[in-house]
Amino acid sequence: MRAIAIENLKGGVGKTVTTISLAHILTETYGKRVLVVDCDGQCNLTRFYLGEVPDTVTLAEVLEGNHDPYWMDNVIGVKPRLLLLPASQELYRLDLAALRRGAAGLTALQDFLEAVAEDGTVDVVLFDCPPGFTAASTAALMAADEIIIPVLMDGFSVEGMTDMLLQVSSMREVNPALRVAGVLINQWHRCPAVTEGERLLRSMLPVFRQTIRRTDKVPESIFLKASVVDYSVTSAASRDYRLLCQEIFGEVDYCGKI
Ligand SMILES: Nc1ncnc2c1ncn2[C@@H]1O[C@H](COP(=O)(O)OP(=O)(O)OP(=O)(O)O)[C@@H](O)[C@H]1O
Ligand SMILES: [Mg+2]
Repeated sequence: MRAIAIENLKGGVGKTVTTISLAHILTETYGKRVLVVDCDGQCNLTRFYLGEVPDTVTLAEVLEGNHDPYWMDNVIGVKPRLLLLPASQELYRLDLAALRRGAAGLTALQDFLEAVAEDGTVDVVLFDCPPGFTAASTAALMAADEIIIPVLMDGFSVEGMTDMLLQVSSMREVNPALRVAGVLINQWHRCPAVTEGERLLRSMLPVFRQTIRRTDKVPESIFLKASVVDYSVTSAASRDYRLLCQEIFGEVDYCGKI
């Protein structure tokens, strides 16, 4: 089982869209069984799948140890082979609680994931992290093996990468296995600032070969509560996410061609 956190300190860089796109390609094309975990009190991923925040167990209860003993009883099937552990605004309250009691409790997600891995029924876990470091994103980085960092090619984002990488290395003190799978350039388009930003970033960091192009099909698809890979199969972003999936997970194995 691979556990991947989609994280950046900056907001609005495409963390949630990337989580959804990878999850849909993995389940639909690769036939993989995927668990997505909404770690964000904004609940974008949860509302994308469920319309509203459910009145059931969410990540906050898992972090506090108030969930059902069997992990599967805490997640919701949202599509064939796709499970969701939803978020709630309770995550904001947890940030304060975590500050008061220190790091204790943040390992609860690690324990939850160990139970998921033991069952052998999930192939990939994707954590949709909030912007910044919160109790939930810290818990996700403690439980994950890899991190994907979506980034936009503006000056602030490129500068912010240094802070992001410092945070990742400090997380290695508690999770030595955590490695950066790659930085993902999102909303790529042809203009001098993007070309220069990309050149700079590639000279400094492990950046995925595949970039995700900017296209109006992405915001359109969000309004319709569809993933761009389903909403517009032929769009640039859809094609790019398929190639990214190949780069991260290798060739399609048993469900056909990309
Ligand atoms: N490839 C793309 N082309 C055009 N628009 C995009 C693309 N990817 C994402 N967007 C748009 O960028 C916005 C932010 O995307 P998203 O919500 O995935 O970012 P995020 O990093 O999860 O944000 P937050 O930090 O608030 O959780 C959305 O309006 C989305 O439609
Ligand atoms: Mg998001």
